[in-house]
Amino acid sequence: MQRKILIILSFMATPVLRELLFGLLSDHHKPFDSIEDILHTGLEVLFMAVIGVVLFFIIMRLEKTRETNELLDRLVDEKTKEVTLTQKTSIEALATLAEYRDSDTGLHLKRIQSYVKIISLDLSANSRYKKYLTDKSEYVEDIVLASLLHDIGKVAISSEILLKPGELTTEEFEVMKSHTSIAGEMLKKANRIYWDNFGRDSYLALARDIAFYHHEKWDGTGYPKGLKAEKIPLSARIVAMCDVYDAVTSERVYKKAWSHEEARKMIIENAGSHFDPIIVESFTNVEKEFDRIRLEIQD
Ligand SMILES: [Fe+2]
Ligand SMILES: [Fe+2]
Repeated sequence: MQRKILIILSFMATPVLRELLFGLLSDHHKPFDSIEDILHTGLEVLFMAVIGVVLFFIIMRLEKTRETNELLDRLVDEKTKEVTLTQKTSIEALATLAEYRDSDTGLHLKRIQSYVKIISLDLSANSRYKKYLTDKSEYVEDIVLASLLHDIGKVAISSEILLKPGELTTEEFEVMKSHTSIAGEMLKKANRIYWDNFGRDSYLALARDIAFYHHEKWDGTGYPKGLKAEKIPLSARIVAMCDVYDAVTSERVYKKAWSHEEARKMIIENAGSHFDPIIVESFTNVEKEFDRIRLEIQD
């Protein structure tokens, strides 16, 4: 209200000041000498007051629009955060559920996520894959989320096979291997729905690649497709190494946990056969952080 009065008054004062100034400078122009002069000045003051009121309403309308836009931006932000959080927690719940069927606990997934994040950040900072990783703005965030689903296909494997303490027979191993394609196909369909709606891939495309190919090996001796080297999606190559590191350094009913040193040695020895040599090189840059996470996130 104060602003309104101030704007109107300043507009009303303009003609008065102008008339007074002219009156001072000119001998002929006297704004308040006759009734006619006073009427003339009064009309100008009134006219300027009307302009002041109109201007005030325009300013008010603009301010209201700005406030409404800010409010809408805040609401969109909050909704986006809400949807992202719901999405993350649902995926976590789903993935953990699948994990509980296995002998692992949910902590395996937490460690995998940390390892994947560390390697992806290192690769995006100093490696041949830097451009590929940094070109995709949300790659690190997406691969961390997608890595949760690498073994989701195990929900379709029977408990007899999944929890069998001894070695699997050839047939049983074939069934076990299918956890990759089962999840891969499911995530492929999910990503296609996203693509049909938004015309681009979501993190589900990464989740599909990881689920399909996290048991492939650099030399082509892995499964399900026997893909070689860079034919294996980078996301799956990263998760493959992190998954193996975590598997060997974790205790199971049938085996003791390896030390970080033993796991490190095995990973370096398998660079170029099981693992992508560039990812192994990145592992050697950040291995201390792997060791720290291994000790921090314990079953
Ligand atoms: Fe797996
Ligand atoms: Fe795993």
